Amino acid sequence: MSKKTVKVYDKTFELFIPEQQIQEAVDRLAQQLNNDLKGKDVIFIGILNGAFIFAADLYRKITIPSIITFVKVASYSGTTSTGKVERLIGVNEDIENMTVVVLEDIIDTGITMEYILKQLRGYEPKEIFITTMFFKKDAFVKKYPIHYIGIEIPNKFIVGYGLDYNGYGRNLKDIYVLSENQ
Ligand code: IMP
Ligand code: MG
Repeated sequence: MSKKTVKVYDKTFELFIPEQQIQEAVDRLAQQLNNDLKGKDVIFIGILNGAFIFAADLYRKITIPSIITFVKVASYSGTTSTGKVERLIGVNEDIENMTVVVLEDIIDTGITMEYILKQLRGYEPKEIFITTMFFKKDAFVKKYPIHYIGIEIPNKFIVGYGLDYNGYGRNLKDIYVLSENQ
């Protein structure tokens, strides 16, 4: 039987990671964060747009007292990373001396997250932990630690669960991968 496919914008994608597997990973991440961050003064910072669905799912499973906010970066167009990050907007909360947990949808080369880290450090938080739903280990070119990883994936372009292709496909509950030969 052939794989379930969807058309997103002008390309065909194949089912890659089913919703249930994603939710299991989110459960595990929430458990780890609830255990590890107990007693800390925690602020979660979701990276818009991509992380909005992951952040919403994860945060409903967070049981420790904490706050959440969102910031925005613009860095990507089409199916290959431009390696260019524009800016970080929306750090309104006072995060000085707090434990920051950055929530990202995916870390690919790691360039975007390095920029976010650099910006956030300027606000002098106590510490920063990185949580990413998906991680392209083989594409990562940076050195900093990624503390919490949902699912490691190969170096392929995916959509769904908040991740987009040209703005489309974020609403897919499963993860789909770009079909070969397109
Ligand atoms: P990086 O700077 O190369 O780590 O890229 C990170 C950003 O690129 C993520 O926040 C995503 O917005 C986007 N991105 C990277 N890989 C994918 C993908 O496979 N699908 C959709 N967006 C992606
Ligand atoms: Mg993103």
